[in-house]
Amino acid sequence: MDLQLKGKSALVVASSQGLGKAIAEQLVREGANVMLTSRHADKLRAVQEELAPLGTGTVSYHPCDITKAGEIQQLVETTVQQFGTIDILINNSGGPKPGTFEQLADEDWYNAFELNVLSCIRLIRAALPALRMQGGRIVNVASSSVKEPIPGLLLSNTFRVALTGLTKTLAAELASSGILINTAAPGRISTDRVAFLDAAAAEKQGISAAEVQAAYESIIPLGRYGEPQEFAKVVLFLASAMNTYMTGSTFLVDGGMVKSL
Ligand SMILES: NC(=O)c1ccc[n+]([C@@H]2O[C@H](COP(=O)([O-])OP(=O)(O)OC[C@H]3O[C@@H](n4cnc5c(N)ncnc54)[C@H](OP(=O)(O)O)[C@@H]3O)[C@@H](O)[C@H]2O)c1
Repeated sequence: MDLQLKGKSALVVASSQGLGKAIAEQLVREGANVMLTSRHADKLRAVQEELAPLGTGTVSYHPCDITKAGEIQQLVETTVQQFGTIDILINNSGGPKPGTFEQLADEDWYNAFELNVLSCIRLIRAALPALRMQGGRIVNVASSSVKEPIPGLLLSNTFRVALTGLTKTLAAELASSGILINTAAPGRISTDRVAFLDAAAAEKQGISAAEVQAAYESIIPLGRYGEPQEFAKVVLFLASAMNTYMTGSTFLVDGGMVKSL
């Protein structure tokens, strides 16, 4: 299937590593122009050098801390200046701090709201004029926690759900502009974030990280963690012109881990 992404312009947020980088790579391979962004210029430069030879489009980067409103505005303006428009916005982010209720202070709640919800709102607001030009696609990266809370990840369990409410509401508000918006929800995909969470759980339980992973794999019907490219392929379809009739929905990429219907 030709996803018709050649020549499209995509802003991929939090793309210096992990899921964001995998999504950027797939977009580059399909011939899209891709703006990479995260807080660290050195990491972004290395990703740009790695990905640029893989495609025919332009691969650029612009550092941005997505908890800062002014930096988001600059990121979007730079992307539009370089590519002329934004056809695709991938709203990815860093993960919130782990913790149970009594371990989290007001500051942690504010920080997670800024990182995982407000950033998304600000990015969509800033990119809307460009997305409206040809009827764009927005994919928000959340977590399987939107379907089944994850023990010890209270901030994710709370704020990722907010993102699905935002997505469902915007699907209706933006439909007349030809903009389709969806949520992609990863389960356990092998990235630095999941390695960090497994190491933290291992320390707490007094077992090894490999044992934590084995326990998760025992409840995943496909019996393993996913690869970032497996997640990215789903996001790519949602972000493409081939997606003509899915908006406001949440798509789990979890090897069958979540048991809810
Ligand atoms: N991997 C999974 O299976 C899984 C499951 C559920 C949910 N998720 C969620 O999906 C998202 C991506 O996951 P991942 O596994 O790829 O995580 P990751 O490997 O930790 O990567 C996080 C990315 O976010 C960027 N970032 C962090 N804070 C930022 C900020 N303030 N401004 C701009 N960029 C920022 C980081 O780049 P810099 O450090 O360069 O800024 C990095 O590129 C996370 O929110 C994670 O919680 C992942």
